[in-house]
Amino acid sequence: MKADLIISNIKELVTLAGLEKPRAGYLMEDLVIVYEAGIAIKDGMILAIGSNAEIMAEYQSNEEIDATNMLVTPGFVDCHTHPVFVHTREDEFALRLNGISYVEIAKAGGGIRSTIASTRDASEDLLFELAAKRINKMIRQGTTTLEAKSGYGLSTESELKQLRVIDRLNKELPINIVPTFMGAHEFPSEYKDSHEKYLDILCHEMIPAVAEQGIAEFCDIFTEAHVYSIAESRRVLQCALDNGLKLKMHADEIEAIGGAELAAEMGCVSADHLGAASDAGIEALHKAGVIPVLLPATLFSLRSKTYARARDMMEKGLPIAIASDFNPGSCNCDSMPFTMTLACLQMGISPAAALTASTINAAFTISRGDRVGSLQPGKVADLLIWDIPGVNFIPYHIGSSAIHRVIKSGKSVIIEN
Ligand code: NIG
Ligand code: FE
Repeated sequence: MKADLIISNIKELVTLAGLEKPRAGYLMEDLVIVYEAGIAIKDGMILAIGSNAEIMAEYQSNEEIDATNMLVTPGFVDCHTHPVFVHTREDEFALRLNGISYVEIAKAGGGIRSTIASTRDASEDLLFELAAKRINKMIRQGTTTLEAKSGYGLSTESELKQLRVIDRLNKELPINIVPTFMGAHEFPSEYKDSHEKYLDILCHEMIPAVAEQGIAEFCDIFTEAHVYSIAESRRVLQCALDNGLKLKMHADEIEAIGGAELAAEMGCVSADHLGAASDAGIEALHKAGVIPVLLPATLFSLRSKTYARARDMMEKGLPIAIASDFNPGSCNCDSMPFTMTLACLQMGISPAAALTASTINAAFTISRGDRVGSLQPGKVADLLIWDIPGVNFIPYHIGSSAIHRVIKSGKSVIIEN
């Protein structure tokens, strides 16, 4: 049979195939590896996977990549990022080194609010150009599917503008991007003392407009002591649900205020951060089938002494995902391999579990588990060819990319020597 591309002689092929749901608990360690493997690809999709001998006997192609001595994995799914903004906030990084906390900076008018004005003023072209540069760097580090949030406009027009930019990025870059509306990222300065008024705008104007334009798939909110309270969050999330959006939350990042419990109550697809989540909160997520998305690079960047309890969650039988949380403030990390390193070193999970958390489990947090995140016939041919001895090398190696090729929908988009 004719294929468009054959990848042959793969030393070790991580498929993560076989489950139609997130891999929970210690199933995260089971990578479903095929040794001495081959893959046949057609029309951007995986046609067949098998032993090298089987694939070479059954398929022919004009294009073949010889992966002798190489590792192949699914492409990374970075399921939590904030890439659309103008200026970066490295001066806050320096302030934090002098002992001023992220929350203190936010309360003094820095933080998310300080990114709003320039994002509101920026043209769509400028926002596109800046975000495209950032996302191209992510692609070079193996990210083939991305979730991207708005949330630096905090007005109807500027939130829609950010979402239009995300739509254009999705169409023009060699990556799939899932759009999330995050008008509840902060209260804009003009409503900082009149929360009800901004909540009315969110619920009566912004969310209906976003839903009507079909320009976002998820709605996210920053539920934390210094931003949206539990009651305020419940109102916004209910309104998003009523308008047909799926839900995510930034929950219990810094303080356990019951964010995880609310994510369970509202049926969120994922609850993200959870650095301080309580036992009851974790139990509630488990019962409700909400997937924890852990963001160790954020807590690393904030110099936290503690991290989300990934191992406890796995022991209780939850599936976990990890993501970069790339943003201009708390975490300017664009690398999934480095996020895996931190998941291993700071949260104590194994390289295999960290890879599962970065691929198939992450895909389920953005409702793409049926298309990407694992390598099996019928799924998109998004994969990484690594010039390394095996999976453990991915988080072990720190600071430069060990990826030989990034293949997106069956096409090589990055080729390193
Ligand atoms: O996930 N927590 C809220 N949002 C981002 C921070 C955004 C910013 O500081 O600009 C986060 O950490
Ligand atoms: Fe975030």
